[in-house]
Amino acid sequence: MSTRVVIGAQWGDEGKGKIVDLLSDKADFVVRFQGGANAGHTLKFDDKKFVLHLIPSGIFNGNADCVIGNGVVIDPIALVEEIKDVQEMGFSLEGRFFISQTAHVILPYHKLLDQLKEKRRGGDAIGTTGRGIGPAYVSKVSRVGIRMVDLLDREILREKIDQNLKDINFALQNLYKEPKLNTDDLMAELEDAIQLLEPLICNTTNMLHEGIKNNKSILLEGAQGTLLDVDHGTYPYVTSSSPTSGGACIGSGIPPTALTNVMGITKAYCTRVGNGPFPTELLDETGEKLRKKGAEFGATTGRPRRCGWLDLVALKYVVQLNGMNELTLTKMDVMDGFEEIKVCTSYKIDGKKTDVFPLCLDEIEKVEPVYTTLPGWKNSIEGITDWNDLPSTAQSYIRFIEEYLGVKFTIISTGPKRNETIVL
Ligand code: GDP
Ligand code: IMO
Ligand code: MG
Repeated sequence: MSTRVVIGAQWGDEGKGKIVDLLSDKADFVVRFQGGANAGHTLKFDDKKFVLHLIPSGIFNGNADCVIGNGVVIDPIALVEEIKDVQEMGFSLEGRFFISQTAHVILPYHKLLDQLKEKRRGGDAIGTTGRGIGPAYVSKVSRVGIRMVDLLDREILREKIDQNLKDINFALQNLYKEPKLNTDDLMAELEDAIQLLEPLICNTTNMLHEGIKNNKSILLEGAQGTLLDVDHGTYPYVTSSSPTSGGACIGSGIPPTALTNVMGITKAYCTRVGNGPFPTELLDETGEKLRKKGAEFGATTGRPRRCGWLDLVALKYVVQLNGMNELTLTKMDVMDGFEEIKVCTSYKIDGKKTDVFPLCLDEIEKVEPVYTTLPGWKNSIEGITDWNDLPSTAQSYIRFIEEYLGVKFTIISTGPKRNETIVL
């Protein structure tokens, strides 16, 4: 039995949702371990489309128990809306959806602060999703956070909100010149959501330990991507959590020694939403072509995604950082029709060639990508499910990436739907 972590190997939106959905029919548990409703994971099957933000992508395929781990920050109101949407689609979460007692809660003031802080940063804004992620993790590490377990006792909840509002109202009134919030209103705003979530809150850490003991298959679903990691990404243009394999352990309670597979998901090209460095970004018609063909618009905010060629220097760093031992390549079909495809195989920084991904912003911003040009293919590969049906130039493109990284692809995705997949 395996404990496999699925990690975004770029700046998010690599197709993690599609792949977790695909793999979940063989899993006993599917676990989200970090991030919050900043994630937008798109699933397509049987002519249905669903975008999940908080519920693990294992909910539609098979019968795995779906767990929101301790490392996730949960907006109770957003989660309840999502649960209702899933139920309206005719899927049941009954008896197979669990929320960690120790996951932190995103309160309406976290969302408000996220948006006000971004506005105040002006030209230096991170370009966050505005879902309250940063401020909620700030509350957590400042040790004033409210956890899911606190929702179960309204007296404790009231006390904690009261306490928090002292600082928050001070900032709202004095820094942002906004009206203050009051505890009664917040409690009332949350009450319906709390009632629905109460029975789902439990000790998921122990549940997963029991699963490991009983040789169950566990699939851990990362949100965001490694280059958005708060420690290892393009800081400060990152999210506030650890979307890496290390983060999977911290955010679930599963020990590192229990992990058997670390799967990285990469697109056949690169995208990024929000601000921050992007060495291979294409601001020309080729970038526009990728955005159009790949339908590159944010699943959470609808913002157009920035597009560029595949960056193997960044990808190699990500593979090493996570200890990835298997890879999935998504959106191969988007490369159809390109006469030539470029891949970045080294960087030039201040005229010096390197294949080491720089860690500091000023260096990353100076990167000039050095490209290797590979031949493209004319025919459409959309929906292909057999390796042998791929044009030889598409096969060579895949082999070139594997050789550079020293890790093999086990899944190639040729379309957004669950079955548009080559399993190797
Ligand atoms: P996630 O956040 O990593 O789950 O990815 P998103 O759902 O935000 O973005 C990936 C987008 O690409 C979604 O619209 C998917 O439906 C779509 N997608 C996934 N795999 C493929 C693929 O192989 N080909 C195409 N054309 N689209 C894909
Ligand atoms: P999935 O799971 C792509 C980006 C935001 C912004 C930065 C910080 O769908 O891959 P935040 O709201 O987290 O404080 O924003 O991170 N970002 C994502 N980009 N996919 C995501 O999630 C993202 N979640 C956050 O655009 O640049
Ligand atoms: Mg996404």
